[in-house]
Amino acid sequence: MKTIKGSMRKNSGLARLLRKSRRPLMAIGILTAAGGFCFPAAANADTLQQVMARKPDIVHGKKVYQLCATCHLSTGWGKKDGSFPVIAGQHRNVILKEIVDVLSRKRQNPTMYPFIDPKLLGGWQSIADVAAYVDQLPPDPEPGTGSGEHVALGAKLYAQKCASCHGQLAEGVNEKFYPRLQGQHYGYLKRELEFIQGGFRRNADPAMMAQLKTLSPEEIDAVADYLSRLTNHTGAD
Ligand code: HEC
Ligand code: HEC
Repeated sequence: MKTIKGSMRKNSGLARLLRKSRRPLMAIGILTAAGGFCFPAAANADTLQQVMARKPDIVHGKKVYQLCATCHLSTGWGKKDGSFPVIAGQHRNVILKEIVDVLSRKRQNPTMYPFIDPKLLGGWQSIADVAAYVDQLPPDPEPGTGSGEHVALGAKLYAQKCASCHGQLAEGVNEKFYPRLQGQHYGYLKRELEFIQGGFRRNADPAMMAQLKTLSPEEIDAVADYLSRLTNHTGAD
C-alpha cells in the first residue's frame, strides 16, 4: 500500500480513496464499477508525438510504475491467464500509443483507464518515464500457453500473414508501433485477436484487419499458442 500511495500526488482523490481502503484491489473494483473515477485529459496524435519526444527518466519511471504494478505486477509479467498482459519489454512507443489510445477512448480499457490519467501520475513526463522503465524490464520467461496441439499451424500462419509487420521472431518494431508479440500470454493474445477481428479494438491497423479476417477460430488459437511459446526473446531490443 505504501508504495502505491507514494506514487500518487498526495491529495488526489484516488490517493485518498486508496488510503481509506485497507484493500487496494477492492478500491480498484469500486472505481471500475463506477465507470471511471477520474476524467483524464483529452489525448490525441499531437499528444503522442509530444510525449514520444520527451527525454525519459527511468529512475523516476520506476517510482511511477508502482501504481501499474498493482495489476501488471512488479515484474511487468501480468498474469498467466492473460487477464493482465505481459508489458515488460514491450516497445516504448507501443506503450505510449496504448496509453494515449486508451485516454482518447480509441481502445477500451475500463479497468486501467482511471490509473493512467496524467493528472494522477504527475503529468505527461511521468508517462514518458514509466514507458521507458517498462521497455527495459526483462520479459516473462514462462508466459501462459495454449494446448500445444496446433503450434506448427500457428507458425505457418504467422510467417505468411503476420511476420511482414511484427517481424520474423515477433519482436515488433518500435518506430512503427508494431507490438512485440513473442512471449505474450496465450489468453491475452487470443482475446485481443478476437477483439480485433470483431472490430472491438478501434485502433487496429486496417491492413492487419484484412489478414485477421481470413483466420478461423482454430487458426486464431493456433497463432496465439505459437506466439506465447516464443520465449527466447531475440530480435529488436
Ligand atoms: C487496474 C489494473 C491496471 C493498472 C493499474 C494498469 N493497467 Fe495496464 N492493463 C490492464 C489491463 C486489464 C490490460 C489489458 C486490457 C485489454 O484486455 O485490452 C492492460 C493493458 C496494458 C497495456 C497494453 C499491452 C499491450 O500489449 O498492448 C499497456 C502498455 C499497459 N497496460 C501499461 C500500463 C502502465 C504503464 C500502467 C501504469 C501507469 C498500467 N498499465 C496500469 C490493467 C491495468
Ligand atoms: C500491416 C501490418 C500488420 C500486420 C500484417 C499484422 N499486424 Fe498485428 N498489429 C499491427 C499494429 C500496427 C498493431 C498495434 C495496433 C494498436 O494497438 O495501435 C498490431 C497489434 C496486434 C496485436 C495486439 C498486441 C497487443 O499487445 O495488444 C496482436 C495480438 C496482433 N497484432 C497480432 C497479429 C497477428 C496474429 C497477425 C497475423 C494474422 C498480425 N497481427 C498482422 C500491425 C500488423
